[in-house]
Amino acid sequence: MKLLGISGSLRQASFNRKLLREAARLTPNAVYTEADLNMPLYDGDLETVEGLPQAVTNLVAQIAAADGVVISTPEYNKGISGVLKNALDWVSRADGNPWLNKPVAIISATAGRGGGERAQTMVQNCMAPFSPHLVLGKEVLVGQVSAQFGDNDRLTNDRYEAGLSALMARLAALSDV
Ligand SMILES: Cc1cc2nc3c(=O)[nH]c(=O)nc-3n(C[C@H](O)[C@H](O)[C@H](O)COP(=O)(O)O)c2cc1C
Repeated sequence: MKLLGISGSLRQASFNRKLLREAARLTPNAVYTEADLNMPLYDGDLETVEGLPQAVTNLVAQIAAADGVVISTPEYNKGISGVLKNALDWVSRADGNPWLNKPVAIISATAGRGGGERAQTMVQNCMAPFSPHLVLGKEVLVGQVSAQFGDNDRLTNDRYEAGLSALMARLAALSDV
């Protein structure tokens, strides 16, 4: 299964990136690629003059090629990061819609106890216009995240690991590979 991970945090040591790698580890037969959301801010003038930036074209191609996508979102002030929203906006400007019927799972990691429930809801709302096949059901919400990974960057809490395994199994089943 070609699995694309999208982190709403750019930071190298991001917990959302770590959670994505755990998602990939827990997905049987996953061939994992991680997207790079480092791209210009959406600007209609830039689009008119230069078209889509290369980073956006790359992301669109990665989404189109994936059998399934997992998005890990931080929660910033009750919402998703500007980085993630910006990428979703750019992708919506591409010819064709790479999200159409694409199996997509949403997960989150936050410093707070809530684990990013509002951010996940916001990702769902922002994705709705693109008609992906969202994996709904029991959410993976990793709160107080700095205490949740061991030295090997693996989840230390069996309940989070089991929840993530179950979610990724549902994503894989939808991907029909
Ligand atoms: C601008 C900003 C806003 C934040 N707002 C929240 C918040 O609303 N709830 C929360 O639990 N954590 C919040 N945090 C803390 C993040 O959850 C924490 O930095 C987390 O590690 C970010 O994810 P990352 O490790 O993938 O970068 C915020 C952090 C930043 C930088």
